[in-house]
Amino acid sequence: MTTDGIGAGLINTGSGLVDRAIFSDQSIFDREMEAVFDKSWLFVGHESQIRNNGDYFLSQLGRDQVVVTRDNSGKVNVLLNVCTHRGMPVCRYDRGNAKMFTCPYHGWTFANNGDLTGVPLRTEGYGGNLDRAKWGLIKARVVCYYGSIWATFDEAVPEFEDFLGDMAFWLREFLMSPDGEDDGIEVVDGILKCEIPSNWKFGVENAAGDLYHDVSHKSVQRVGLSLSKLRGRHTWDADPATFKLLNITFPAGGHAVRGNLYDFANREYQSQWAAIPEVDEYFREAHYTRQKRLVEKERLLNRGGVVFPNFIYNAANRTSITTLIPRAAGRTEIWKWVFVPKNAPQAVKDAMRHYLLRYTGPAGMVEQDDFENWGSAQLGAESILARRLPMNYQLRLGDYAKWAWPEPWIGAGALVDEGVSEHAQRVFYDRWSEMMTGEPQTVRQEAAE
Ligand code: FES
Ligand SMILES: [Fe+2]
Repeated sequence: MTTDGIGAGLINTGSGLVDRAIFSDQSIFDREMEAVFDKSWLFVGHESQIRNNGDYFLSQLGRDQVVVTRDNSGKVNVLLNVCTHRGMPVCRYDRGNAKMFTCPYHGWTFANNGDLTGVPLRTEGYGGNLDRAKWGLIKARVVCYYGSIWATFDEAVPEFEDFLGDMAFWLREFLMSPDGEDDGIEVVDGILKCEIPSNWKFGVENAAGDLYHDVSHKSVQRVGLSLSKLRGRHTWDADPATFKLLNITFPAGGHAVRGNLYDFANREYQSQWAAIPEVDEYFREAHYTRQKRLVEKERLLNRGGVVFPNFIYNAANRTSITTLIPRAAGRTEIWKWVFVPKNAPQAVKDAMRHYLLRYTGPAGMVEQDDFENWGSAQLGAESILARRLPMNYQLRLGDYAKWAWPEPWIGAGALVDEGVSEHAQRVFYDRWSEMMTGEPQTVRQEAAE
């Protein structure tokens, strides 16, 4: 990767300090679109959004709009939504079913796999010399991973599983049904979208492992919105004698997970749906089926995390995926997919959908707190005066519990920290800095010492 000076010296994970310009400077933003977003696999959607051949929906790959299609042969394609003639988007609907896309400008027509099939005046106008094979829509590399769809336009980005590294275990686990079946969740129709006046990184670093900001959600805690109906969102099983609260990060890729690990297998089902017996029954049964299926892995409770750079998932019954779509240094679109278990009865799906809509997204009761924080912190990154101060990420600096993960079924290469820290944020910015500047990471070296 080339170094052109942009990005250098902005991150000092050794001292836990970050220059506020990374949130507000437009030239840094432009650089990170190329050096970070174009060089990463990005989530575009879920296969349950395109169940039938011909189904499609619009999504974003960084700043580029793409059409995600299931073509006539059943294959998933991610196509740049830019006409190869003169640039018009060929698809103008959020979703639908189509065998082909006809550009509204001059009528070039593309099959749902991106191939150019029709050109007005092809014989008379182009003398039969226009090679249709060369003028199809630009196609991304695509990977379908247990139902989730990922893409990149860059040929040099490593294979998807290498990009994920040991994060793969957690992503796969998140995509399971509650009873432990792979590819076990489906999207509740539609994608929730809103825009916030904030840099995209505020949202990602929060989801990577900010367990320090519960004070922000005090109002929701008072209302008792959690499924358990207890006041406080994280207290229903918080007995330190039986479980560990972990920040798990994967410095090589910049990914992070928040999880609980129980000290014992055969963990009892903890009812969260007592108010709706049918739903409670489904989750009780799923809990014990999962336990038999996954044996020791069942000790794990995957709460949520981040796949670098802009994919957030929220697990543990609040099942959603969020992407932070960068529009400008101080402007981000939030796209949210909400999921329910594929194999659940309709009553369970309905109850979860209602809960999730109350909890999450622009109409929910939790994320307004977060959006307000990120949008307001943006002001503190933009003012000339405030920018003299670096941002502080020093909470439990250098205090790493372990370098290698003790559970072989999860994989090596993880950096683990117990309890509340800003460890995940330091790892995130270390990886960001590495991609921006080409300079090697420092967190791994310091942790190893
Ligand atoms: S821009 Fe699409 S056909 Fe001309
Ligand atoms: Fe939050």
